[in-house]
Amino acid sequence: MQEFYDPSHDITHFAFGDVSSTNDEAFRLGEETGANRLFVTGKRQLAGRGRRGRPWVSEEGNLYASLFLRNPAPIELCAQLSFVAAISLLDAISASIDDKQNMCALKWPNDVLFNKSKVCGLLLEARGGGDDTKIVIGMGTNCTHFPNDTPYPATSFAHENIELSPHELFKALKHHFLLNLKMWDQGNNFEHIRKRWLEKATGLGDEIVVRLEKDEIRGIFQDLDHDGNLVLGLSRGRSQKFSAGDVFFPSMVL
Ligand code: BTN
Repeated sequence: MQEFYDPSHDITHFAFGDVSSTNDEAFRLGEETGANRLFVTGKRQLAGRGRRGRPWVSEEGNLYASLFLRNPAPIELCAQLSFVAAISLLDAISASIDDKQNMCALKWPNDVLFNKSKVCGLLLEARGGGDDTKIVIGMGTNCTHFPNDTPYPATSFAHENIELSPHELFKALKHHFLLNLKMWDQGNNFEHIRKRWLEKATGLGDEIVVRLEKDEIRGIFQDLDHDGNLVLGLSRGRSQKFSAGDVFFPSMVL
């Protein structure tokens, strides 16, 4: 493992080769160092995990990064950080590649798409509580590889003929994440993040399918509320809010 201190951002980056999960290492190092924030990256993850208990296949060549934050905001606002992260990934990608054709988009809750396929996923985890809240935001980006057996189609930058190294992307991500964190202002300015997220949201105003553990609900993707919930318009003027789930488009679930 190598350790890099960045004085301009006052943050340490712990760079691993093989790691179980960068999220686990981030919690461990947060505990061990007592730092308020730190980054962890791994070249390869042996037990990478995704949302809803799914594995995240983590071969060398992609970016696996986690940001640890101690008491970043009152606990009830911490879920907003996944939107800060999605915007930061988008900013980092836009700064690193030539996206003249505007192929980057966001998909609720916090995937980043390129050319309509998933290129980044985020996993936010929390431990502790009260004045000892620890948050880790783990981010996986398919620079080189992507799985082809996923319910929602995936891609990698290499597959799209775009050269983007995990190292270059991480440099940009660190910069943009720390900027957006300042902008978010411990949740006082979530409105700014929400607006930026909505500008790049895929399917807004369209019919979507929200898939839950045992259910699928169709409706119109109306909004992202102030807590980060998806607002789905149903028949007869009714609506329903979702705090978790997977979004698909009707053509994918016929
Ligand atoms: C998803 O299911 O879309 C979320 C994927 C999150 C993967 C990243 S890779 C870095 C960090 N470490 C993990 O074990 N998971 C996250």
